[in-house]
Amino acid sequence: MEAKQDLERFGLRKIRSGKVRDLYAWKEELWMVTTDRVSAFDCILPEVIPTKGIIINQIALGWLEKTSLLFPNALLTEELPHEVNLPEWKGRLMRMLPCDPIPMEFIARGYLVGSGWKEYLEKGTVGGYRLPPHLTFGSPLPEPLFSPTTKAKEGHDEALDIESAKKILGDDYELLKNMTLDLYLFGKKYAYQKGLILVDTKFEFGRRDEKLYLIDEMLTPDSSRFWLVEDYEKHKGNSAHYDKQIIRKYLEQLKWNKQPPPPHLSQEIIRETQKRYKEVLSRLFPERLKKLEASISP
Ligand SMILES: Nc1ncnc2c1ncn2[C@@H]1O[C@H](COP(=O)(O)OP(=O)(O)OP(=O)(O)O)[C@@H](O)[C@H]1O
Ligand SMILES: [Mg+2]
Repeated sequence: MEAKQDLERFGLRKIRSGKVRDLYAWKEELWMVTTDRVSAFDCILPEVIPTKGIIINQIALGWLEKTSLLFPNALLTEELPHEVNLPEWKGRLMRMLPCDPIPMEFIARGYLVGSGWKEYLEKGTVGGYRLPPHLTFGSPLPEPLFSPTTKAKEGHDEALDIESAKKILGDDYELLKNMTLDLYLFGKKYAYQKGLILVDTKFEFGRRDEKLYLIDEMLTPDSSRFWLVEDYEKHKGNSAHYDKQIIRKYLEQLKWNKQPPPPHLSQEIIRETQKRYKEVLSRLFPERLKKLEASISP
């Protein structure tokens, strides 16, 4: 994104690029810069969704601010220090406490969709938990479920059974499971008041000096599924998705085998994805959208 000499001048060193974020070291901090890249089925797609990086970063920042008393997170600030002149990072930046990421994805599910629905049809369970019979696609689960997966360095993440998750997390298993569910429930309640259903989501946690922190993005349409409340009342599980599911569905229609190279996105899908992500920001944190309106238009 930036010329190397510019970054060095400001004391920044690029660490690596994730699928969506570029990571830099600055003094003792980790800087995460959210780009407009989009990944699906663990592949980075050839097109970007213009301004998506700002939109999801603003959503994550809004949530991190709201939940910081519920569980400590690694965010230090979103402001650039005055000596670093990179206006193109405005709105995309999180300055964070560097942590050791726990190599797991902490998933909470509140509704019967996606791989949970497939498992329910086959075995009557979701993430290994037995559910009542005769639930329909998109039904709310009797209570939200914790279903962790591996965080694969390459390739696809895989479901983790409870015993394997306990092995990785040791004594922290109960706490992190409960936090995953509490953060999901907090998000679900807040989103509902704003006209959105938080269907499911994924968190990441890390350790530093023997303390646990919530790291990375949270409750964005990249890491969660959202429906509009008004759609759900009519269409249940067939409601339009206000999240990355639009892109997954498009790719599935193309019958791509999910191995690189990934196919191109149509202009229509790019526009629609941007529109729906922006709608989520405008419902959840309208004051943030207003502040950055000029950089997120149209
Ligand atoms: N406070 C933190 N300390 C250390 N690492 C962090 C922190 N917050 C986020 N991360 C890591 O930064 C990366 C964010 O980049 P991004 O979201 O693009 O990656 P990803 O596609 O999810 O995964 P990958 O890193 O496997 O490409 C993730 O690997 C995440 O675990
Ligand atoms: Mg990520």
